Amino acid sequence: LGVARASADRYDTIGVGYASRRREEPSWAAAISGALEGSTSILNVGAGSGNYEPRAARLVALEPSATMLAQRARDAAPAIQGVAEQLPFDDATFDAAVAILTVHHWIDPVGGLNELRRVARRQVIVTFDPATTARFWLHRDYLPELGVHERSQSSLADVLDALEVHDVCALEVPRDCVDGFLGATWATPATYLDPVARASMSGFALLDPPAVARAMDALARDIDDGTWAARNAELLDRDSLDVGFRLVKAGH
Ligand SMILES: C[S@@+](CC[C@H](N)C(=O)[O-])C[C@H]1O[C@@H](n2cnc3c(N)ncnc32)[C@H](O)[C@@H]1O
Repeated sequence: LGVARASADRYDTIGVGYASRRREEPSWAAAISGALEGSTSILNVGAGSGNYEPRAARLVALEPSATMLAQRARDAAPAIQGVAEQLPFDDATFDAAVAILTVHHWIDPVGGLNELRRVARRQVIVTFDPATTARFWLHRDYLPELGVHERSQSSLADVLDALEVHDVCALEVPRDCVDGFLGATWATPATYLDPVARASMSGFALLDPPAVARAMDALARDIDDGTWAARNAELLDRDSLDVGFRLVKAGH
């Protein structure tokens, strides 16, 4: 019960308004659906409001936060309240289990990943590689604290340890990404100055507010006087950027 309560609490607070700020990036949705091709029964763990959830297959969603569950579309797949660490399913119930942008929030990531392995033959995970995110300009030049925090979270290394991984590919973020996660607005730095935009990026919620305020002041100055543009000139011609997200396929 402790894990369930603690997991629900976080997103019951930061998940308010999530569905209005966070939408599916079509290129990611296509990559995730492609990775799940051939699976007819799927468990979506940490499903949130249902973004990136394939529509076609027989799918069950699992999510601890009532606030997130309440934001699922009326026609979304059936969802149950629960946590990755204690999946209420028999062994090998599903063809595939999918976990998207959620493993780093789990209380016991390795325990949860083992549960995914137990209930599903294949696992598809979207997570991040902290070595790559650390090179993103926001971390590198303004908020190294984000990187420190991300390195302490579960990420690619845990997934590689816990699962039988056979493929890892970068999920690049297109210039016009429609989702609102941290890193989505790499091409429009002024977006980070907007507290409403920052509220949908859970990484910010975990930082010390004065540190964020100082970093945003510095960013605003650098945007105004052209320092940001000069320092990031190589981004100007890019259609997409690798900010560290990885699509991982595991199992059989
Ligand atoms: C950033 S959201 C991602 C939601 C959805 N997968 C998506 O891509 O839009 C992270 C989700 O993980 C959920 N979560 C947190 N702890 C969890 C746990 N122990 N087990 C399962 N899900 C958890 C949160 O409640 C939240 O809905």
